[in-house]
Amino acid sequence: MVQRRETRLNAEHRGLLEAAVQAPSSHNTQPWLFRLEDDVVHLLADRTRALPVNDPDDRELTISCGCALLNLRVAAAAAGLRADCRLLPDADDEDLLATVHLAVATGPGSDAPLAEEIGRRRTLRKRFDDRAVPPAVLRDLLRTAEDEGAWAVVVDDEAQRQAVAALVSEGDAMQWASPHWRRELAQWMHPRRRGDGLALAGIVAPLAQVVVRTVDMGTGVGAKDHALAENSPLLLAIGTAGDSSEAWLRAGQALERLLLVACGHGLQAGYLNQPLQLPALRHRLQHCLGHDGFPQVLLRLGYCDDPGEASPRRPVEAVLVAAGDERLEPR
Ligand SMILES: Cc1cc2nc3c(=O)[nH]c(=O)nc-3n(C[C@H](O)[C@H](O)[C@H](O)COP(=O)(O)O)c2cc1C
Repeated sequence: MVQRRETRLNAEHRGLLEAAVQAPSSHNTQPWLFRLEDDVVHLLADRTRALPVNDPDDRELTISCGCALLNLRVAAAAAGLRADCRLLPDADDEDLLATVHLAVATGPGSDAPLAEEIGRRRTLRKRFDDRAVPPAVLRDLLRTAEDEGAWAVVVDDEAQRQAVAALVSEGDAMQWASPHWRRELAQWMHPRRRGDGLALAGIVAPLAQVVVRTVDMGTGVGAKDHALAENSPLLLAIGTAGDSSEAWLRAGQALERLLLVACGHGLQAGYLNQPLQLPALRHRLQHCLGHDGFPQVLLRLGYCDDPGEASPRRPVEAVLVAAGDERLEPR
């Protein structure tokens, strides 16, 4: 655990961190911390924000931190900086996920244009328009995952799509049947002003939490998600050859790069990760995708005229750790 102290931020660091914290994260937990030392940014896992029921191995937590790392790299490119990353640089410190050495770049970074998409990206939970995704856009998306050492595979065959949709609704049924899973979800349903979690209007948050804690809505949610999987213009999985912390960090960077590139093409995305969060279903999804390696994220993508407002974030001061701070046990 990490103790936070007051630390001063220069404008350049602030810009990088503001981009990083706009990354997606499971249940919007924002499970990251940053330590700044001159030209080095350390990315740390904040495991006080873990989801032990939904994500017992911190797999999604690490993917989320990978997304933040990609945003930081993109923001550095836009600021004319080179960002040299080392993943998991200290074998004795599993919370230290990456170090990023910043230096003035000699030429313009090719990632710079993606910076504009960071604030436009949203997670969508409603249906997309019926517009198909053009093949050239699809090729672009698949390439981006490979650029980050991951793979992306499209679920395009109808029988395969039906099988994936069935796994999603089966996952919903299993998760909602668990009071522990529902309690954890309810704990992360927060009034928007809190700056994290799944944001609700302050007035409805307490009631919604009680309903989610006490009522198994698996059948209804499963039917809705089955229809979303069936009808999405594009359904794709991102995966990696291995299933280690390093693979998860790569998957996170691939996910966020793909989301930003998609956003540049006018696309938004939603997640259908239920089968990945349950080991038995993940195994079946792996088989169904017919791709070697480990699926990490299941996404639906499409067009939507009204992506809605951005979900809240905590201020960067809340995710800063001062250089030299000690690791402490939880308070
Ligand atoms: C690794 C990961 C897993 C996620 N899983 C789900 C999911 O299963 N269902 C869902 O609706 N959203 C999922 N999300 C999206 C988050 O809930 C979302 O990023 C967060 O609420 C912040 O909202 P934003 O993406 O619009 O900024 C996931 C995001 C990440 C990075």
